[in-house]
Amino acid sequence: MQTSPGFITHPQPVALTVVAHPEPRSFCTAIADRASRAATHSGFVLRRHDLYRDGFNPVLSVEEYRRGFSLDTAVQAAVNDMQEAQLIIVVHPDWWGGPPAILKGWIERVFRAGIAYDYRGQDIGPKSRVGLLQHKQVLVLVTTDADADVDHQSLRRYWSRNVFGFCGVHNSDVRILGPVHGSSAGTRKLWLKDVENLRFNASGTEIHSSSSP
Ligand SMILES: Cc1cc2nc3c(=O)[nH]c(=O)nc-3n(C[C@H](O)[C@H](O)[C@H](O)COP(=O)(O)O)c2cc1C
Repeated sequence: MQTSPGFITHPQPVALTVVAHPEPRSFCTAIADRASRAATHSGFVLRRHDLYRDGFNPVLSVEEYRRGFSLDTAVQAAVNDMQEAQLIIVVHPDWWGGPPAILKGWIERVFRAGIAYDYRGQDIGPKSRVGLLQHKQVLVLVTTDADADVDHQSLRRYWSRNVFGFCGVHNSDVRILGPVHGSSAGTRKLWLKDVENLRFNASGTEIHSSSSP
């Protein structure tokens, strides 16, 4: 955006928060609220997709599968916001070692070829995969009841490697918060504060907390 000769202002960076929990009073939703606030405090304009609240349909239909793009305005809005966002924050509970089905379906419908990754090469000849999200920062926050690191591995692998790694993101930050069950009010307060104190760098890839030592 050019406002006067020689002086260029950039529009504010965009953060996309995607939250998947059916209970608005859940700890998970509170974490999403704090993470969104942290993004706003870091100078981002926020776009928020609350999948249960919005009634997102996670089913990739046979028509959409064959067509290769979506006529569903909810998917189109998600694609637009995802493409525009420099920062993507995903918040969900650990359900059987992965995200709730609604979020899995969101990934399946939004992260499609041509949007999140693509295959490129000569017309005739082998094509190689390119990730199209490589310039984005990613933070995934997962609430869980499991405290053993081995139980977190499937979540880390799914987000860091299978989803965002595949799409070219090298440094997705996956943070597991828990065990929530049996935690004290004070501990949950600290987790919320830690998330609220996160600061995101709009131009680079660094994510840091303003309160951590
Ligand atoms: C359908 C379902 C599946 C779950 N699967 C797991 C699981 O595999 N491992 C685990 O530690 N907790 C599991 N939980 C517990 C949630 O992870 C836990 O309740 C949640 O993270 C607590 O925070 P919340 O208030 O955000 O829900 C499951 C809960 C539900 C409802």
